[in-house]
Amino acid sequence: MEITSEIKKTREIIKQAKAAGKTIGLVPTMGALHEGHLSLIRICRQKCDFVIVSIFVNPTQFGPAEDLAKYPRPFEWDCRLCRDNGVDLVFAPAAEEMYPQKQIIWVDVETLGDHLCGASRPGHFRGVCTVVAKLFNIITPDIACFGQKDAQQLAIIRQMVRGLNMNLEICPCPTVREPDGLALSSRNQYLDSQQRQQALCLLQALRRAGEMVAAGQSDTQAIIAAMKEIIERQPQTRIDYISIVDNDLLQPISRLDRPALIALAVYLGPTRLIDNIIVDPANKSL
Ligand code: PAJ
Repeated sequence: MEITSEIKKTREIIKQAKAAGKTIGLVPTMGALHEGHLSLIRICRQKCDFVIVSIFVNPTQFGPAEDLAKYPRPFEWDCRLCRDNGVDLVFAPAAEEMYPQKQIIWVDVETLGDHLCGASRPGHFRGVCTVVAKLFNIITPDIACFGQKDAQQLAIIRQMVRGLNMNLEICPCPTVREPDGLALSSRNQYLDSQQRQQALCLLQALRRAGEMVAAGQSDTQAIIAAMKEIIERQPQTRIDYISIVDNDLLQPISRLDRPALIALAVYLGPTRLIDNIIVDPANKSL
């Protein structure tokens, strides 16, 4: 496995792999890898001949009050996990390599960023799309893997690829969970043991929502109210949002008459966790 930090060297290695007839797969990450990331790597490994993992804690997607400085960066350990999982190349640039000058060209997101995480994290998806577009241009992958855990990010990246005619396939990957159901996240390590226990209410609320849909409830406000009650039973929680949106343009819907994304973001103390499920009233829970 090779490790690069320079764009030029990275391009040379990829050029060689392509010349050898290999298909290129990319898994973009911010490091602090866990089983969720590794599942993406394994899916990518199955689909592509040459697997690249990018590790870059992207400053432009963090708000001023967010956790950029304290975001975990266990680089050696991440590289070991990549090696053990059959990665061919880790691309880990410094911020100066990705942003050598003040960024004045951005990929802007309309409509899709208005709700869910976009509402409480202004500029976040502009930063995500811009860095992902840069990575796509540097690496020119055939396939890039993204997790359903970040459902809004996945939907926006898909629209970016379509809307800007980018020549690659986006591969959606299922959310990986702890045995007790908590979605794996690099931010879970910030939780103390009480918060960790209380964090289970995110999935409990989503499961309740799934049950209500399966029982024929189509009033989204009633579903949101039931979810809110489950979350608020836990003393250390603070709800950022609970939303039910259509699964295409991510706009809030009042009646569940088509496939929808039920998503929530909840603070446990200072740590913000997200989770989601997709429901289809015709098919019950997907
Ligand atoms: P990061 O949070 O490191 O996540 C990298 C990828 O891993 C994303 O596609 C995310 O959806 C996926 N992922 C995280 N937890 C997961 C889980 N429990 N199950 C399945 N997949 C999971 O998302 C980012 O980085 C950044 O925004 C990035 C796309 C790299 C742009 O900077």
